[in-house]
Amino acid sequence: MTGSFGPSGQGGAVTEASTDDVALIDVSKRFGSVSAVEHVNLTVRAGEFFSLLGPSGSGKTTCLRMIAGFEQPTEGRIVLRGTDVAGLPAYDRDVNTVFQDYALFPHLSVGENVEYGLKVKRVGKAERRSRAADALAMVRLDDFGSRRVTQLSGGQRQRVALARALVNRPRVLLLDEPLGALDLKLREEMQVELKRIQTEVGITFIFVTHDQDEALSMSDRIAVFANGHLEQVGTPSEVYERPASAFVAGFVGTSNVLDGTVANRLRGSEDAFSVRPEKITLIAADAPHDAAEGEIRATGTIRSSVYLGERTRVIVDLDGGGEVVVVEQNRAATGEGTAPGTPVRLAWDRRFDQVLPIAPRPTDPASDEVLTDAVLSAEPT
Ligand SMILES: Nc1ncnc2c1ncn2[C@@H]1O[C@H](COP(=O)(O)OP(=O)(O)OP(=O)(O)O)[C@@H](O)[C@H]1O
Ligand SMILES: [Mg+2]
Repeated sequence: MTGSFGPSGQGGAVTEASTDDVALIDVSKRFGSVSAVEHVNLTVRAGEFFSLLGPSGSGKTTCLRMIAGFEQPTEGRIVLRGTDVAGLPAYDRDVNTVFQDYALFPHLSVGENVEYGLKVKRVGKAERRSRAADALAMVRLDDFGSRRVTQLSGGQRQRVALARALVNRPRVLLLDEPLGALDLKLREEMQVELKRIQTEVGITFIFVTHDQDEALSMSDRIAVFANGHLEQVGTPSEVYERPASAFVAGFVGTSNVLDGTVANRLRGSEDAFSVRPEKITLIAADAPHDAAEGEIRATGTIRSSVYLGERTRVIVDLDGGGEVVVVEQNRAATGEGTAPGTPVRLAWDRRFDQVLPIAPRPTDPASDEVLTDAVLSAEPT
């Protein structure tokens, strides 16, 4: 049997085709009694910008360290370019890591930092120089080779760390929250730079972040983690528009998750569902309704509204219980007609309803074991 696919698997077999650079096959990692990663199945394609997104402690770094070879999985297999790398040390893997804290040598110059890895590999001096110069040009630090790293700004240090990894020309670059230490403006600049570099050099990036905007704006695909489980893998729009669980709906953007009672009233079904705030249109009780806004799905009363310039964020108490957040673009008006106490009708297109599975929560180990057993015993032997 080639790996068993646990409850967090995304359906479909994990392939080992040569277009996949990295595959995790039913990988679990335990540290003593701590279960850091549980039954993760995912594949990363060659040349992809692939993000691991999740809250603190969800297992992102642990996954990255297992791919790099700094940790061994407790169970499951890691496959790089079709080869099972169990037991292969980190330095023999065609993978380089950029850490959040850069880990530069403060007593060496920028150029010496970048060349360091090549020196260890006994690459000749002339080649070292030219490859380091190329790598520094790639991160737009052409004239910085002789500077001390202590004389650089945070963003420049981050670029040196990147150049130091790129100089090895790895197939896969692992980046663990590389922009975490930068202020917002620099962070946004570096997001653009990183994306440009990745497109230019065409290597596979596996990028760890807990920032959903960063993941949405940079990635070809995103893997969303919660509590060591993989909740969903998809393109940014798939993850945003079609969240696979209440967790993803809440973690990636804002969503209204409506539970069984409300769902029964609004949809005539007990399956919980989510709908994004910007998909909902508020219509005054006495105003005409344009069918293009979707059908009227609920009525309620405005509890509060906040004017935010380009948009207004409104909270509506639904008649019969429940609340939803609505975001209205301030195209013409200035958020008027949203005073607390105003009765409203809420319209949205039914195709924006995302029905959420009533699965056992991944945080509940007891129910999870039951499901795993059920899946395993259902498999042909
Ligand atoms: N060496 C270790 N020994 C014991 N527990 C560990 C070890 N490394 C990680 N863990 C635990 O494993 C879980 C996952 O940790 P991990 O570092 O992978 O999370 P993360 O998603 O990278 O979080 P963050 O966003 O905070 O960096 C956490 O509960 C953590 O405490
Ligand atoms: Mg981490």
